[in-house]
Amino acid sequence: MNWLLRNEGQERIKTYGIGSDADGLFWCFDGHKQRVDWIKKYRHILDNGLDRKAFKLLRAIWGKSNQCPSVLDACAGLGKDAYLIALSGCSVTACEKSALVYGFLQNAIDRLDSSERVLLTCVHADVMSYMKKWPVTRKRPDVVYLDPMFNHRLNAKVKQHAWFLREIGEHGTQAELLEASLSFALSRVVVKRSVKNTWLQNKKPTYSIEGKTTRFDIYQV
Ligand SMILES: C[S@@+](CC[C@H](N)C(=O)[O-])C[C@H]1O[C@@H](n2cnc3c(N)ncnc32)[C@H](O)[C@@H]1O
Repeated sequence: MNWLLRNEGQERIKTYGIGSDADGLFWCFDGHKQRVDWIKKYRHILDNGLDRKAFKLLRAIWGKSNQCPSVLDACAGLGKDAYLIALSGCSVTACEKSALVYGFLQNAIDRLDSSERVLLTCVHADVMSYMKKWPVTRKRPDVVYLDPMFNHRLNAKVKQHAWFLREIGEHGTQAELLEASLSFALSRVVVKRSVKNTWLQNKKPTYSIEGKTTRFDIYQV
């Protein structure tokens, strides 16, 4: 399959394969089949406890509260973060703008066993209009989680999932997203950034939780 990609104003043609077999949807690049396989990783977490990265994400989402927050994951991608947050007990709505990415995410959710099901709902929408159309009678989420595309170049060792998202995901709605999320969340907005990036929109967070490669900026509302 040839795709003409228009990302960040550049036009490139790349060859990918997309297919489905008994184990669900996959994409193929360089002869290797790749899938949305976060369940494997999280089985490991359930057996062995949280790794540092997962612990930092959950600390950022839960804050100091011991009340389980409801979460809108505004940039769902392939749902790796959304699934972990839901696994911690939160009810999560994961919003994804790209139809193709959404298709992969929904397919992975549909294929969960009953023992693996968590409170995770996925919607295909631009999160800006999704928030605007939120019914006034419905309680807004406590936390909005933003993981927009990082702007720096991916290095050769980057994981296939990040690479795939980078190629087919939507870029470039970040400008209004932070302000809109701050007006929408009831408690806080959490932004995932690379440590190489400055704050989103150059807006200083209330505090940050930093790891080796990733930082979570927390904006209390
Ligand atoms: C870096 S990825 C998120 C990765 C995700 N946290 C995960 O764990 O797989 C960013 C995603 O946000 C999506 N996106 C960008 N702008 C969006 C918007 N306005 N509404 C919804 N999704 C959006 C992109 O298509 C992309 O899939």
